[in-house]
Amino acid sequence: MAQDTERTSMSADQSAHQESHEVVVHDRGAAIVQSDAFENPGLPPHRPRQTDLHPEKADRAERTVVWWFIASMLGAVIAIAAYIMVPIEQGDMASVRFNNLFLGLGIALSLLGIGLGGMHWARQLMSDHELVEERHLTRGSEPNRTRAVEIFKLGDEESGFSRRSLIRNTLIGAVALMPLPAVVLFRDLAPAGNAVDVLTHTMWKAGSRLALDPSGTPIKADDVTIGSAFHVIPAELAEMTHDEGYLDQKALASVLLVRLPLDRLNEQPDRAGWSYDGIVAYSKICTHVGCPVALYEQQTHHLLCPCHQSTFDVTNHAKVVFGPAKRPLPQLPITVDDEGYLVAQHDFTEPIGPSFFERLHYVDEEKHIPLSSAETETRA
Ligand code: FES
Repeated sequence: MAQDTERTSMSADQSAHQESHEVVVHDRGAAIVQSDAFENPGLPPHRPRQTDLHPEKADRAERTVVWWFIASMLGAVIAIAAYIMVPIEQGDMASVRFNNLFLGLGIALSLLGIGLGGMHWARQLMSDHELVEERHLTRGSEPNRTRAVEIFKLGDEESGFSRRSLIRNTLIGAVALMPLPAVVLFRDLAPAGNAVDVLTHTMWKAGSRLALDPSGTPIKADDVTIGSAFHVIPAELAEMTHDEGYLDQKALASVLLVRLPLDRLNEQPDRAGWSYDGIVAYSKICTHVGCPVALYEQQTHHLLCPCHQSTFDVTNHAKVVFGPAKRPLPQLPITVDDEGYLVAQHDFTEPIGPSFFERLHYVDEEKHIPLSSAETETRA
């Protein structure tokens, strides 16, 4: 068939002497039978490359490709080694710099090796004939399917994927190793120990004074007026340095303190002892995905999360009245000490922050007073 593919199996020498302005029309891209010829729009004749004409130059190009793929593998190994051998020491910015430097260099070399190796392979060794791919509807007929298989084999033959086993194997090695640094980095996102434990316990303990964030000034019950909202941390946290994990602990223990008129407080009787004279304390970490719930509406006594507008009703144990959060903010049981300062009765009795499937396995069974399911899982 005149319009059918003109196979480009000419030898290198034949190609060298080809002077006609021939456009090689292939149907292999679309796997269809061509019904109309494509006229040469004036493309220059195909010029064979040095690697087409001289086998020894093709071998040299092959070695170059292989070295790039090996360099890529080396880069992946360097990235992993750097992660292990140059760890980040808390508070030591030099260690952060060196860790990032070597990690970055390793990952860059890994990606660059694959990119340059593939590019060199394509430019020097794969077929470089101009191709014309006609646009037609593809049909799943048997001849076309047969032709598709031929095309696949042709591509394999021309790229040398099966024949050049050294390139193929080093490419497979490079592609296999390249994602490994990402695995190492993703693992680094979670704490080394039990991640759930981290969410289950905060700094709050019996007798911890509630203090202003960030000054650490303890708060007396008399200071909390109706309509005001206090951003609160445990008083001990103010003594902590950044090297000791100040920010990590603050992210867990932050609390919002609000005083409500007693007639507005609809407390479950079992939890009535968790508040003091209308003053209630709730975790500031949103139960949707963990943003700080920082906005307090005085009139409605609603707490708003600015991230996705979850709204919690402080008068009803901070149950969700709007938005994507699915459970109330955990409540911190409070009371006052001998000097009139607000103190925690104990830590939260359930994990703070975003919900997760095993959450209920981590509630403190001795101290937790569950809300009714109507209070916890439904919205007004
Ligand atoms: S994090 Fe609060 S609503 Fe999404």
